[in-house]
Amino acid sequence: AAEDGLSGWLRYAPIKGAKGCHSKLPSAILTLNATEGSPVYTAGQELSQGISGIFGKELELNAAETRHGNGRDTTATVGTVHAYVDSNPDAAARLPELVDDGFYLDVSRGKVLILGQNERGALYGAFHYLSVLAQGNCSDFTLTSNPDAPIRWVNQWDNMQDGGTHGSVERGYGGDSIFFWDGKVRDDLTRAAQYARLLASIGLNAVVANNVNADAKTLTPENMDGLARIADVFRPYGVQLGVSLNFAAPETLGGLSSFDPLDETVINWWQGITDALYKRIPDMAGYLVKANSEGQPGPMTYNRTLAEGANMFAHTLKPYGGIILFRAFVYDHRTLNQTLDWKADRANAAGNYFDGLDDKFEDNVVIQIKNGPIDFQVREPVSPLFSHLVKTGAAIELQVSQEYLGQQAHLVYLAPMWKEILDFDFRVDGKPSRTSDIVGGKRFPRKLGGYAGVVNVGTNTTWLGSHLAMSNLYAYGRLAWDPSATSEGILQEWTKLTFSDDKKVLDVITKLSMESWPAYENYSGNLGIQTLTDILLGHYGPNPASQDGNPWGQWTRADADTIGMDRTVWNGTGFSGQYPPEIAAMYEDVATTPDNLLLWFHHVPYTQVLKSGKTVIQHFYDAHYAGSATAQTFPELWKTLKGRIDDERYEHVLYRLVYQAGHSLVWRDSVNTFYFNKSGIADTGGRVGNH
Ligand code: GCU
Repeated sequence: AAEDGLSGWLRYAPIKGAKGCHSKLPSAILTLNATEGSPVYTAGQELSQGISGIFGKELELNAAETRHGNGRDTTATVGTVHAYVDSNPDAAARLPELVDDGFYLDVSRGKVLILGQNERGALYGAFHYLSVLAQGNCSDFTLTSNPDAPIRWVNQWDNMQDGGTHGSVERGYGGDSIFFWDGKVRDDLTRAAQYARLLASIGLNAVVANNVNADAKTLTPENMDGLARIADVFRPYGVQLGVSLNFAAPETLGGLSSFDPLDETVINWWQGITDALYKRIPDMAGYLVKANSEGQPGPMTYNRTLAEGANMFAHTLKPYGGIILFRAFVYDHRTLNQTLDWKADRANAAGNYFDGLDDKFEDNVVIQIKNGPIDFQVREPVSPLFSHLVKTGAAIELQVSQEYLGQQAHLVYLAPMWKEILDFDFRVDGKPSRTSDIVGGKRFPRKLGGYAGVVNVGTNTTWLGSHLAMSNLYAYGRLAWDPSATSEGILQEWTKLTFSDDKKVLDVITKLSMESWPAYENYSGNLGIQTLTDILLGHYGPNPASQDGNPWGQWTRADADTIGMDRTVWNGTGFSGQYPPEIAAMYEDVATTPDNLLLWFHHVPYTQVLKSGKTVIQHFYDAHYAGSATAQTFPELWKTLKGRIDDERYEHVLYRLVYQAGHSLVWRDSVNTFYFNKSGIADTGGRVGNH
């Protein structure tokens, strides 16, 4: 059958072996205290729709009599623990401990119990049960599942207006905004509801719909009404709305003469906005703020600290239980001068700006930190700021949208990269201190923390512009729920749900996906040099020359003999000193810095010998050949799936993989030629340069 990608991994398509499952399925669904439009109500709908789609079995929903046939109770009961214990007081002692959004599943010969700690948790439980069924497993099981962190948000960088009439998505590669058009919230929010459904099915609980580069006009009364309509279509899925703010709005929208966060009139203005939003959206999640970054206004405009800026919003939100995600992506591109200053380093900015502020934030402020200190490059060390904030909640910002990573025209499965980041051990005070345990609030006891994923779906029926890229969204949700899940396990689940459980399909998609990040790193930027995309024009395609002399501070300091950023304390920008001692010592020394981050931390000759025994320049040449050779195998592998998946998606993916194979050669030759011309050093393989 022809397939667009709208339902993503929630296709509820018929499965092989469905017959064998029939006797093990429930015959009726009972929702506990479900009012129409509530997550428990949605759970009932999904269960009936899912079981009908996968097995062709129609279930009675909330029929008075739920005993069937032989008198055995085969009801799927779904609701909150609270509602269940109300009518089954004896059960209380048997039920496990659940945290917010957690769920408990007990599946036993058609009798199914799905309980959530809250309504949202009940819906998550229903989605989980359906996912297990859709993967062809109808055996009995019990499961207690709690999220690793409370904040599991999505950021969309959607513009309300884009010069003309559009609502475009900044760094989005799947079409226009599903939320905004012509400076307003769209009338038809069907896609927004479908999006919330996908997000809920992977445990994501809030969406900031408007761009971090926020338009103050988001806060006009008319647009606030529009935001309330978005929140309304999200609510049945337990997805809350967050709003991104422009720090200067009191002046640009409110007509005040200042936006100083300590000014009484400014504070009152923001309180008025917060009140007006909560009046319309009583369950609003909170705010997201990008301040003093890339020309955006912020508290530093008035010599106020970032904490003073963040706290102003925190105070207005507190009566409503709202939280503010304050971004750590703070740097001033106008002050970075590469030629004059060997020690200038954008990577230092966040550590410097947040220095001394750890005990200054209100407890409903969470600092949202990009995974790396620069900007979603193909490989970066983990941002040291995670190890500095002990008292302040932190969330990690990951980018699902492949801005520097091929913009969905290249297949790059990101879970393996995220796993390395989440598993990284900072060794704070010489103790295990993994990133995931820091944002999950386990390493330093804090109640708020978690994950923010920049997703940037659009109106395209594939959501992200490519069917295979959806594995990244799926993996993001799964890892935010459980960072110990494996990249391969997540991928196989996703593949079964999205395509089929055909072994061949599983094997091919697994192989392609698991090879894709290493291949992309090989044919783009190696050894921690950064992705080497064009910096000025859209962050796409090779342009190593643009990596130096730009004002954005994404530099490689490549000259005729040497390359790399010296970020050591003894001779460079001092960035390595931002890590706790054991890690700082590792990065300070060339000998102990892992090869894959060598040029991130050190400025070395092209002839520097790596741990692998190769020189830097020879590694460049070889890696670019190896990476692009891997990409050449992708379309061939994919072709072995012809007839095993529907033609529509088969062709759509093939087209992209053929393109990627070609573009990887452009990458290979541009980068290799560039460094050959710079260094004049021949490739020992005789492939690069004039011959
Ligand atoms: C990147 C991206 C911008 C974005 C910025 C941010 O630099 O290219 O489009 O606004 O990050 O995260 O704020």
